[in-house]
Formats: sequence, structure tokens, C-alpha cells
Amino acid sequence: MSSQVREQSHDLFKSFKFSLFRTDRITGFLITLLKGVLLIFLVNSVSLVVYSAFTTQTTWFRCPECPSPTRSIVQHCETFNVSGENIEPTNISHIVFGIGGSMNTWKDRRHYGELWWQPNITRGYVWLDEQPHSNAAWPQNSPPYRVSEDWTRFKFSSSRSGVRIARIVLESFRLRLPNVRWFVMGDDDTVFFTDNLVSVLAKYDHRQMYYIGGNSESVEQDVMHSYGMAFGGGGFAISYPLAAELVKVLDGCLDRYYTFYGSDQRIWACVNEIGVSLTEEQGFHQIDIRGDPYGLLAAHPVAPLVSLHHLDYVKPLFPSQNQLDSLRTLIQAYRADPARTLQQSFCYQPKHKWSVSISWGYTAQIYPWLLSASELAMPLQTFQTWRSWANGPFTFTTRWMSADPCEQPVVYFLDRVTVVGEGETLTSYKRHEFEAGKKCDRSTYAPVMSVHRIIVSAFTMDPWEWKMAPRRHCCDISKNLKNKEMHVRIRHCELSETITT
Ligand SMILES: *[C@@H]1O[C@H](CO)[C@@H](O)[C@H](O)[C@H]1NC(C)=O
Ligand SMILES: *[C@@H]1O[C@H](CO)[C@@H](O)[C@H](O)[C@H]1NC(C)=O
Ligand SMILES: *[C@@H]1O[C@H](CO)[C@@H](O)[C@H](O)[C@H]1NC(C)=O
Repeated sequence: MSSQVREQSHDLFKSFKFSLFRTDRITGFLITLLKGVLLIFLVNSVSLVVYSAFTTQTTWFRCPECPSPTRSIVQHCETFNVSGENIEPTNISHIVFGIGGSMNTWKDRRHYGELWWQPNITRGYVWLDEQPHSNAAWPQNSPPYRVSEDWTRFKFSSSRSGVRIARIVLESFRLRLPNVRWFVMGDDDTVFFTDNLVSVLAKYDHRQMYYIGGNSESVEQDVMHSYGMAFGGGGFAISYPLAAELVKVLDGCLDRYYTFYGSDQRIWACVNEIGVSLTEEQGFHQIDIRGDPYGLLAAHPVAPLVSLHHLDYVKPLFPSQNQLDSLRTLIQAYRADPARTLQQSFCYQPKHKWSVSISWGYTAQIYPWLLSASELAMPLQTFQTWRSWANGPFTFTTRWMSADPCEQPVVYFLDRVTVVGEGETLTSYKRHEFEAGKKCDRSTYAPVMSVHRIIVSAFTMDPWEWKMAPRRHCCDISKNLKNKEMHVRIRHCELSETITT
């Protein structure tokens, strides 16, 4: 019986299927026809979209590598070598700087600009809010200036100059300077270390859309603005294709974000509309801190030093000099070995069990006890936050700086830089004089007190090393003192070497 039922239902199904097929034959044919028509439409519109996207894009994106702008667009892109292998490395000539200045601030701040600007080598302009007085000649060593075009038509709520400075990237782009790969923005009190800036930018494919910089050291600032924002004082870089996109949308975008405070926040918002986010590089320093930047610069991350900012707001880098002279001293070391500037190496003096830390070209420290590598790499907190002058938090871990001189390192500052022979330097660090009552009289400190100077020898660091995975360099300390001098040699670490081996 059960088999009968099965047979019956089977028949039923068969007839049902048959009738379904029959009645659907015509509609099926219609559907196929419709599908075909739709497909033709789809193919047509997709190719139209693709075609128009590429044509409009290429008229904007004139890649500097392409030999002749007069060639047709199609040829133009065929000659473009996508493998990138034939692209020459990025150098200083590929960068256009856009410095946000004003007549009011430039007369004092130009000294910062002139520290790093190299006439006829660095390209770009300081952008002013008004024409300089015609009777005063523009200083020869300053970057050339341009006056920002009328920006007053834009909405703003707190700072009108924010709009003007945000538009520097647009105005720089529209100058149509040849062979530009990067637009680098900075403030008029930003000090760039251009060789290292080149090393950093050379790591990236300038034919893609990049927004590169760093955020604020003070968490309160990042919370208020954004962790994802490149703070303008530390400087940031925008690749040519991103600038080309930004220029298209910027003016409309600026009106959308008129409530924002600074130019950097406006750029961040507009770059985000394009869908590009920040590529962080640790060598850009906004220096959103108060007090003494010593701890931060004595334990720089293992990354090339790209910029320093806000130097009028912190203590001079070298306590016995004013800020400008301090920078000149640091730059002297930088010229001898740009890639190594502020790079920290540390090692132990085995006989005395001392920890020794060198921040190359700046400072050295001796601790008459043993500290771990992670402690030595952690900045001593000699500073406060930017806005509230609080003891933190910062975007990195800090080490508490005790007020007790017996818990502090003995500190040395750079006093001489010598280039010896081929690719080697000698830097000398002299002991910092103690202020009255700030000296530790404990017997453990006495042997350190006999070290008046630390002499550091190092090979000149190849900038190419910054293209590889970063690794801190190792050092050795001579066993005995000579003439109250301790000798330290910085070198590449051995294959299986650690600080404790
Ligand atoms: C593109 O780069 C490759 C890889 O180096 C090279 O072999 C080739 O000749 C280049 N082509 C052109 C058209 O430059
Ligand atoms: C920079 O690279 C270009 C090639 O893109 C080269 O022509 C130029 O001479 C280089 N300039 C410097 C200063 O090295
Ligand atoms: C820069 O180049 C211009 C024109 O070639 C020249 O007149 C000027 O002296 C140069 N300046 C420096 C500082 O080399």
C-alpha cells in the first residue's frame, strides 16, 4: 500500500512538473530575453562608468614620471611603469613645502625656518596673510613667500587663519611645479630634518594616496581633536595623487567643517571624506608638551627624527644655551650623521654595574644601577601635558622623574662633534653641572662623578637602514676611564645579541 501511495504521488508530481514546464515556456523565453537586454545595458553602463572615471582621473592625476603631458591620456598611462622598479628614489627635489606663516609671526619665527631651509635645494613657500612691507627686503635665507589668495569668503567660527592655512595644499598644487611627489605642510615654527623626511617618504609609493604624519603627545589633545589626525605643527605629507583629489573637494569641504579650530583638523576631515586615513610615522613631533622636552628626546623611538615644533613653549634643549643655539648645536650633529640623530643606544658597564644610555647627538646618561631595556627606552617624564599642564596621560608610557637626585641619572650633554675619516663620527658629551643641592652625595654616585665626559664613536648610519625593519643599535663601554673620559662604541648588534648577553 505504501508503495502504491508512493507511485501515485510520483505520478502526481510528474504531471505537475510537466504542466508547470508547459505554462512557463513562454514566460521563460521572455525572462531570458529580458535578461539579455539587461546584460547589454549593464555592460554598457559599466564600461561608460569605467571610461569616464579613468578619463576624468587621468586629467587630474598627471603623474610626474610620465614623460610628456602633451601626449594623449591613453599613451600617458601605457608608458607608466606600474612595477615601479624604474622609478628613481625620492629625494629632496620631489618635495614642495607649504609653511603656514603670517606677517605677524614670521619676523620672529623665521629663525626656525632658516635653520633648515636650504635655498635652491628645498622647494616651496611660506604663505603669508598679507604682502610684506615693500621697504623691507625679504631675508635671503628665508623660504620665498607667497601671499594666500582671498580666503575670507569661507565660513569660520574660531580661527579665520585655519581656513587660509588649510588651503596652502591647494594653492601649492595649483602652482603646477614639475616633478612633485609630496606636499609637506608645516607651521612657521616647525623645524624639519629634511634628510630624514626624505628617508621616511622614500619608503612609500608616492603614486598612491598617502597622508603621513603624527598626532599629539598629549592624550587630551588627541581626544579633543583626533588620534587619526596629523597635527600640523609636527608637519605632515600628502602625496601628489591625494593632493589632486583633495584640491577637487577642498573648498566645499572647508565650508562643511567651518566649526573646526585649526587647519590641520580641516585637512584631516577632508582627507577622511576621500577615504584615506593617517599613516603614522614616529619622527614627526608636534611637541604638545610643557616644561622640559629632555626625557622625550633622550629616549626617541627607533625612527628617524623628522621634525620638532613648539620650541618657544618648552625649555631650551641644552640647558646652558637658548633655544635657537640649542637647535644649532643639535643640527651640527645632524649634519654629521642625519639618520642617527637622537637615536638611543644603551649598554651596561659591567665592572660598576652601571646603565648607560646615549641619545646620539644630544645627551648621555649614567645610572649607577641596572635598568632593564624597556625602562631605558621609556622617556623620563620631565614634562607636562599641553593644555592642562598635567602629569599625563601621554600617548606613550613615561617613567616617573624623581625629585631626589639620588634617584636620577647623571646627565651629559653634547659638546663636540667630529667626523673622523670615512663614515665615522666622534661625539663628546660633557657632564651637566649640578645646581646647588641637586647633587647626590651617596657613595654609589662617587665613581660616576669621576666621569667628566663620555666619548662616543659611531659609524655614519646609512639612511637606507630606515627602509628595513628598525632595530636599535648596540654599544660597548671601555673597561677603564682615561682622563676622566668614558669611551662608548655604537655598532650594529650581532645576530643573537641582546642587551643582557
Ligand atoms: C618597467 O620596469 C621593469 C622592471 O625593472 C623594467 O624591466 C622595464 O624595462 C620597465 N619598463 C619601462 C617601459 O620602462
Ligand atoms: C632627484 O631625483 C631626480 C630623478 O627623479 C634626479 O633627476 C635629480 O638629480 C635628483 N636630485 C637630487 C638633489 O638628488
Ligand atoms: C639660487 O639660484 C639663483 C638662480 O639660479 C641664484 O641667483 C642664487 O644666487 C642662488 N642662491 C643660493 C643661495 O645659492
